[in-house]
Amino acid sequence: MTETREADAAAAPALPVAGGDTVTGLLAEIAAIGVDRVRGGYSRPVFSSAEHDLRAWYLAQASKRGLQVDTDRNGVIWAWWPGEPPVDTSAPAVVTGSHLDSVPGGGAFDGPLGVASALVAVDLLRARGVRPVRPFALTVFPEEEGSRFGVACLGSRLLAGTIDPDRARSLTDLNGDSFAEVAARNGLDPRFVGADPEALARIGTFVELHVEQGRGLIDAHQPVGIGSAVLGHGRWKLSISGEGNHAGTTLMADRKDPMVAAARLVVLVRDTARAHPRARATVGRLQPVPGGTNVIASRVDLWLDARHMDDAVTASVVAEIHAGAELIAAEEGCTVTLTEESLSATVHFDPALRDRLATVLPGAPVLDTGAGHDAAILSGFVSTAMLFVRNPSGISHSPEEYVEDSDAEAGAAALADALEALLISPVTDTARETV
Ligand code: GLV
Ligand code: MN
Ligand code: MN
Repeated sequence: MTETREADAAAAPALPVAGGDTVTGLLAEIAAIGVDRVRGGYSRPVFSSAEHDLRAWYLAQASKRGLQVDTDRNGVIWAWWPGEPPVDTSAPAVVTGSHLDSVPGGGAFDGPLGVASALVAVDLLRARGVRPVRPFALTVFPEEEGSRFGVACLGSRLLAGTIDPDRARSLTDLNGDSFAEVAARNGLDPRFVGADPEALARIGTFVELHVEQGRGLIDAHQPVGIGSAVLGHGRWKLSISGEGNHAGTTLMADRKDPMVAAARLVVLVRDTARAHPRARATVGRLQPVPGGTNVIASRVDLWLDARHMDDAVTASVVAEIHAGAELIAAEEGCTVTLTEESLSATVHFDPALRDRLATVLPGAPVLDTGAGHDAAILSGFVSTAMLFVRNPSGISHSPEEYVEDSDAEAGAAALADALEALLISPVTDTARETV
């Protein structure tokens, strides 16, 4: 502890300290929520009962720490450290957070690790007697994975105004329920979702801690790393239409089977990505309509996820796949349409903030990532950084995703170190100075 911190600790207001919570302990508290007995792992889609229970748990944890909790009109939860002196309430805030929703059959750490680490970081800052001079908040963003309504980072996109609210309202889930309907059933007023410049302007610096979703930290033999960039990525829906018919009575020569076209298209996706070094392209979801064992499908919808550090390469990969899909569809007597559902350019986090964190966390390797994050959406508007925590399986979006207990605690301590440096950094220009 520094001398300043010791002196400040004596004068620190008597705020509740949760005390004793570890990241592993907090994650254990939610380990039974959203377990998917069919797929394995966790399925915690936004506005499901599992996600509702996670939010309730989070609100209780934030309240227990004396944080002032508010859910905004986009469903983003904010938990504010009390703004007592020496906090300069007019200064831009330091904000940290992540998400609680998951992909179908996902792991325990993608999202919740950052949420639990932020709570533990609050405890560590309190225990160290840190007295922020800047506003400080924790956040939880809804629908980061886009696994219910198809658009990843929907909450942060709405907040930042990078998605048209009309489009967001009309997104539908697998049951055909619109985001507007589901949001309304869950306490939001869908008329008011969308850009929130006031909330965005309060953020000066955003730091998201996340489980690493690759092998960078395994190879570097380090528990914690600092993010440098997020690969550009997008999602496209391909709908192949053919002719629905009877599996027993339709001769093979007479078929217009979109499932056969879809199978060829999946291989084309792989081969196209392989032809572009460092590109990634995936078909992880495919839906035959109507979907019966003895039915030739009339239509197959499949979703393409494509990524590359160079946005022009991503565009070429998608264009090549689209052209190839049209050829394949024609050969199979079908037609195909391609619709872009979301697209995010490659993001480089604020280099000054990254370098600052590198001085606070000496030895932490600097890594880019192929996974999307709310931090990447926010980085278009505020100074943003990420911390990654080692995942010894190197696997994510799967029940195999993993974090050792000691690494989880090292991650929270690193987050607390980073936040401390940012929170006590003097506010020299009270107008709009960021750290
Ligand atoms: C989210 O994790 C994504 O990268 O799609
Ligand atoms: Mn995530
Ligand atoms: Mn994810």
